[in-house]
Amino acid sequence: MKNNTFSDILGIEQFSAQDLLSIIDRARLFTEKGIPSDVLRGAVVGPLFFEPSTRTRLSFEAAVHRLGGSVIGFENTESTSITKGETFEDTIRMVDGYVDFLVVRHPEAGAAQRAASVAEHAVINAGDGAHEHPTQSLLDLFTIAQSQGSLEKPLKIAFVGDLKYGRVPHSDAKALALFSNIEQYWVAPDALRMPDDVRAYVQSKGVTVVETADVANVLPEADIVVMTRVQKERFADVAEYEKVKDVYILTPEMCMSIKKSMRILHPLPRRYEIPESIDALPQAYYFQQARFGVPVRAALLSLIVENQ
Ligand code: CP
Repeated sequence: MKNNTFSDILGIEQFSAQDLLSIIDRARLFTEKGIPSDVLRGAVVGPLFFEPSTRTRLSFEAAVHRLGGSVIGFENTESTSITKGETFEDTIRMVDGYVDFLVVRHPEAGAAQRAASVAEHAVINAGDGAHEHPTQSLLDLFTIAQSQGSLEKPLKIAFVGDLKYGRVPHSDAKALALFSNIEQYWVAPDALRMPDDVRAYVQSKGVTVVETADVANVLPEADIVVMTRVQKERFADVAEYEKVKDVYILTPEMCMSIKKSMRILHPLPRRYEIPESIDALPQAYYFQQARFGVPVRAALLSLIVENQ
């Protein structure tokens, strides 16, 4: 039965702050004590990736293996019957008959919801177009909690770059809006500002948001800076992408005024926005962040199993 918060995982709005904290607590337990190897014993998980991925697919697969389960799926559609014209919905129906959970990434917003509407088993959204990437947000929240000690203390968190097409800042902004102690800074040029629906959701929670195009003023204030890639694949017009692709490039000079305790996050892959010269800074935390994908996704899967 798909009737509770921990069944289909389609977007951040289905979660309460308590839900998010329970996932963080479980991920912390798995990080400290190890991932139990019997939670998914006998279960099969289907990662269906209609769009490229390195971290999300492989960290999900690693989490499933560590939980004692197995995976069948595809990393692109070229070897599937979609090339013969099979529809998205029929593909989901077929794999739903072979697995216990589906993990779906797709270039179109709303694809995970479409999958969930035809699947009997739980569907996890692994990124749907420019809409949401909820499991990335879970690991981002975990990373913030690990690096700053808690999500329940005053924090200033800045999102920098492509807030229009970046599904990660959409999910992150909604998730952090559930914590009234957290101030958000949205740093973007006019062409890449946060969409109105995300702004409306975040404002409805009553948190403080500062919108600006000036990254230099925000860096010294921030406890967390989430840099984002300008999402070339979402632009209809390449000329428009070229105008903004390197709008914010973090340099060691810009980082001279940042707090020692500040952490730089990025969902990755990176392009121009974080040059390799930043990697040696103690504040650079994006590779550690990516590693947290395994315990966080294992925590989510274990909570889904418990709630079935
Ligand atoms: N963060 C993230 O979604 O990375 P991938 O596209 O490699 O999965």
